[in-house]
Amino acid sequence: MNEGIITACYILASILFILSLGGLSDQEKARRGNLYGVIGMILAVGATLFAASVGNYSLIIVMMIIGSIIGALLAARVKMTAMPELVAMLHSFVGLAAVLVGFATFLDTSHPLTGADQTIHDVEIFLGILIGAVTFTGSVVAFGKLSGKIGGRPLTLPGRHILNLLILFACIYLGYNFVQTGSLTALAIMTVLALVFGIHMVAAIGGADMPVVISMLNSYSGWAAAATGFMLSNDLLIVTGALVGSSGAILSIIMCRAMNRKFVSVILGGFGTKKSTSSAGNSEDQGEAVAITSSETADLLKNSTSLVIVPGYGMAVAQAQQSVAGMSQKLRDQGIDVRFAIHPVAGRMPGHMNVLLAEAKLPYDIVLEMDEINDDFPETDVVMVIGANDIVNPSAEDEPDSPIAGMPVLQVWNAQHVIVLKRSMATGYAGVENPLFFKDNTRMLFGDAKASIDDVVSGL
Ligand code: TAP
Repeated sequence: MNEGIITACYILASILFILSLGGLSDQEKARRGNLYGVIGMILAVGATLFAASVGNYSLIIVMMIIGSIIGALLAARVKMTAMPELVAMLHSFVGLAAVLVGFATFLDTSHPLTGADQTIHDVEIFLGILIGAVTFTGSVVAFGKLSGKIGGRPLTLPGRHILNLLILFACIYLGYNFVQTGSLTALAIMTVLALVFGIHMVAAIGGADMPVVISMLNSYSGWAAAATGFMLSNDLLIVTGALVGSSGAILSIIMCRAMNRKFVSVILGGFGTKKSTSSAGNSEDQGEAVAITSSETADLLKNSTSLVIVPGYGMAVAQAQQSVAGMSQKLRDQGIDVRFAIHPVAGRMPGHMNVLLAEAKLPYDIVLEMDEINDDFPETDVVMVIGANDIVNPSAEDEPDSPIAGMPVLQVWNAQHVIVLKRSMATGYAGVENPLFFKDNTRMLFGDAKASIDDVVSGL
């Protein structure tokens, strides 16, 4: 294909990717955003296949078929609750691809370069492999943590900051050595160090800070792709990687704000290590949690004028979103003011609750962000906390030693009545006791969230 046509396709694909990102920032335009992304990617892959440098079509077609089958099977089988793990795994593939492309480019001697061109090319290879290796192992550990295969507690090796610094200095030295001598040994040692650093960096981050890690690895995978684009001299890959890298970085900052954390402190690790020390952290000191039945809950709702529903990860586990939407419609029909309060890190991935509620076709205007609704709780009759825990934990405000201290939370305890739907007294993702369950105005509706909501609806 003519180079000009390929460039035109790349420009069009870049525009579609930008439109896609724009669309994904708003739930009403998200479907359209996704469609732009799909069209952009088809255009990008199609145009690349016709580039002059691409040959061996039979191998490419076989690999595309294998990849498409694996991708389609994974996408069809993955549960909504396992999406964050899948995303972490996909990030690890981008990292691994960057490492492999880096080594392949280094070992490919068919396009000899000299002088400054060679130096620039070596720097591209070195950085591509470095970022790719950190992304690869970091994402594999994140996958393990999110899927529960690895414990959520942060690994805090003694002298871990010194270890990180030593790895950094070693990589700088190896980079200098590699550019000077083209040594494969320097490249290989750096790769091993970067792989170790990726494991250590994510292992040191506590459970409650995983949202920042996910968006950070998202960003790294973008930079790894951009570095691969430089190695392969593919402009579109550079642009796309930079888009993912920078949007991931912006998301990390948003996540840090939501968690009230400093980005540098999170990536240096060790958050979530402190143990609760005050009485609020010990369930034995807090008295008894009081249970409520579904018919009592229905009576309470019927006699209220305002209800705020706070969904959390448990709503996703129970797949209760349709039942919740049905209940909210029924109550709205009875003249009750029903609204939803969404915490920025509710669930296990950015926008998790918004996706579920959109799937259940809830009107967007009753779904409010934390900052929009947090001041309204004192005037609210009833709050229903559906499978949420950490995001409504008052110890984030009251206990300076808590692993979630400082994280802004939904202040549901200020409402007149709080009903918490969950199966047991178990802690949430951060592993922290929740004093909300023991407050005078809180009642516990035990059981699977979907079954509980269905029972409440039949009592309405
Ligand atoms: P969590 O604190 O994880 O609490 C979820 C609660 O749901 C659990 O206490 C669990 O209690 C309950 N639950 C589970 N299955 C249920 C079911 N079938 N029916 C009813 N209840 C069920 O969730 P959250 O409040 O949404 O907070 C999110 C946490 O995840 C935060 O710590 C956040 O930092 C972390 N995190 C978030 C993200 C992103 S980006 N959103 C990514 C990684 C980690 P029972 O077992 O007693 O039922």
